[in-house]
Formats: sequence, C-alpha cells, structure tokens
Amino acid sequence: MLKGKNIILGVTGSIAAYKAAYLIRGLVKRGAKVQVVITPAGKEFITPLTLSTLSGAPVISEFFSNRDGTWNSHVDLGLWADAMLIAPATAATIGKMANGIADNMLITTYLSCKAPVFVAPAMDLDMFAHPSTQQNLERLRGFGNRIIEPAEGELASHLTGKGRMEEPENIIRILEHFFKEKEDLQKKKIVITAGPTYEKIDPVRFIGNYSSGKMGFALAKVCAERGAEVILIAGPVAELISHPNITRVDVESADQMYEAAMATFPDANAAILCAAVADYKPIHPREEKIKREVSGELSLQLTPNKDIAASLGAIKKDNQFLVGFALETNNEEVHAIDKLKRKNLDFIVLNSLREKGAGFRYDTNKISVIDKDGAVSHYPLKTKQEVASDIVDKLATLLL
Ligand code: C5P
Repeated sequence: MLKGKNIILGVTGSIAAYKAAYLIRGLVKRGAKVQVVITPAGKEFITPLTLSTLSGAPVISEFFSNRDGTWNSHVDLGLWADAMLIAPATAATIGKMANGIADNMLITTYLSCKAPVFVAPAMDLDMFAHPSTQQNLERLRGFGNRIIEPAEGELASHLTGKGRMEEPENIIRILEHFFKEKEDLQKKKIVITAGPTYEKIDPVRFIGNYSSGKMGFALAKVCAERGAEVILIAGPVAELISHPNITRVDVESADQMYEAAMATFPDANAAILCAAVADYKPIHPREEKIKREVSGELSLQLTPNKDIAASLGAIKKDNQFLVGFALETNNEEVHAIDKLKRKNLDFIVLNSLREKGAGFRYDTNKISVIDKDGAVSHYPLKTKQEVASDIVDKLATLLL
C-alpha cells in the first residue's frame, strides 16, 4: 500500500521525536520515500543525522541551506507529497498550523501541501486537555486534516493520561489503511450537488437559505481522495476546493443546478444530492430593482422548483445509485423514508436540526442513514469530514 508513496514526515520538539526514527524505518521498509522536515526545536530532541541516515535523504529544516545557499522549496515539496505526517506534533506546532503562522519550514510546507495531512499530537496530559489545544485540533479537523489521537499512558513527566503519541506501527497502519481506501472508487464517476440555491427576486435580491456547502464539499473531497472522478455542482458558497479529480461547476439557481445535474448524471455511477435546493422561485423576477416607495406592500408569487433528486431518480438505471439528504424538524424518520421512496433514492442521510452541532454552517454533523429496506443506522457526532467518510463507505459498498 505504501510502495512508491512520497511521504513528508514533519518532526517537532517533543520527547517523542525519537519515535520518528521508528516511523521512518517502518515507512521505508514498506517502500515509501520519506522526506523529513524538522523544526528548530525538533533538532534538540533528535539529530538530523539519525533521521537522514534512516530516510536516505538530507533532512530539511531551514528555508536556505547554510552551506551553499540553495533554496528549499516548500511549494515543490508540498506538491511532491502523497501524504504529510506530522509526528510528533507539539501544542506549539498544532497552534501554528491552526492559525497559519508560517515561521518555519515545517509550517510553510504544511501550508503548501495539497496532499492529505495526518497529525499525531504528543504532549503532557494537561497541555493536551487545554481548551486552546482542543480548539486548535478542532480547527485542524475542520480544514480536513486527520488527527491521530494520542494514547493514554505514562508520559515523559511520569504522569499518566492522554498525550502519548500513537505508536509508530499504529500510525503506519493508519496510513496504509488510508492508501488502501484510496483505491476503492477508481474509475467511478460521482456527481455531487452542494450548497444553497439563490432564486432571483430582482437584480439585487434573492431567496436563499443557510446552507454553507461544507457537507457537500467534504463529500467531494473524500470521493476524490478515494480515486473517483467528481463533478461538484455548487450553489453560491464561500468554500474552496482543489483536487485533480474534482471538476467544479458553479451554479446559482435551482434551474441551473437541475440542468447541470441532468447533463452529468447519465454516465455517472452515482449522485449524492447534498444541496439545499430552494423549493420555490419567484414566477416573475423583476428586471429592475424593486423600490419600496413605488411598490408599497408587496407580494411575491412563487412557483415550485424542479426536484432534482426526484428527476434523477426517475431516469436512474439499475447500475446507478442515488443518495439524498433530509433535514427535518419533526417526525424525522417518517419524512425521510417518504422522501427516499418518492425520489427513488438508494439511501438517505438524515440530519436533524434538533441535534446540537448538526446541520447548517457547523463543522460537525450527526447523521442517521436510512436504507431502501427501512433499516436505520445512527452515527455519533463527528466532523463533516468524518461523516463524509461514513457516507462514502456506505456508497462504496453499493458501487463495488
Ligand atoms: O424534499 P427535500 O428538499 O427535503 O429533499 C431533500 C433531498 O432532495 C436532498 O437530497 C436534496 O438535495 C434533494 N432535492 C433536490 N432538488 C430539489 C429539492 C431537494 O435535489 N428541488
């Protein structure tokens, strides 16, 4: 799984830095190429000579080489990598990553890295439990980084608690699992709708909703990382995404989203309909801005939009799969099952507005998944990235 993979190993100033040596040995043994980037504090704990001997490549620490003045390009390094692993990651490095404080080569490399990033924290239990560390980790999760939770155990301070860096062999197992997963959607084409739609009232006003697009973008990222070709049809959102497997189609209205979905679904293997499509649009959007002084009391006449999910459900072939979302405020499961049937979906993801931390604009979500046969699975509160992985796992079982 790791053969031929390019891995950047970031090493920071923690007593667990010695474990980096075992990590390098394990990765190299499995055929990976390892480039070590170390922080100035990291060098106090383990020598670059040890690390470069094991990795077979000079360790990078400074922006320039002191010897010959050559420039270490963090951009090239970021593009070279198939994954970046920061192990051990100190509270300081985690804080810098969470806030983009690019004052050393490791952080600039991290900021330039387009590949998935794994972070293995190592610190004393109270430092780990501190709200600032926890908030920084939460931010990193929100950026799509994967946190390898530290284990409970004896710490360098002789205290016992959570903060020990995960053991090298387990970290390597996590990487292997990641690269194994990555293969499973190759040659699959997946259409994803995300975000809200805006329905024009006049040239400056619209009917919209609070959808941020975060869930749909997380799904697009997971599918792309697992090898699928993704068509991401996005309503107006602030989210950014860049991955060679993702083609982003920006739309504004439900009609435009419908056209894009109907054009791309016929040769796709699946569609995930995550967008919060406006149910209604103004029948006669005005050419000129509506003026209060002229219009006085105003009523808008609305007409229903086309249901994209139901339209795709109607043309769906036996070897195609459709995943829908339902956001309900009452009688959640009953409504969701009704939607699943009406729209001819293969499964539906239910998120309830009643759940704390779930739904619009949050970085976390709590879902239930309902199958065609009515079976319901409940999932705990997780980051949208983790929720996306759960949903894609489920879709992958149908696609294989
Ligand atoms: O009917 P409701 O909007 O609650 O259904 C939600 C599901 O249907 C979501 O998957 C949503 O993306 C999809 N949908 C759609 N087109 C619409 C309305 C909803 O694709 N016009």
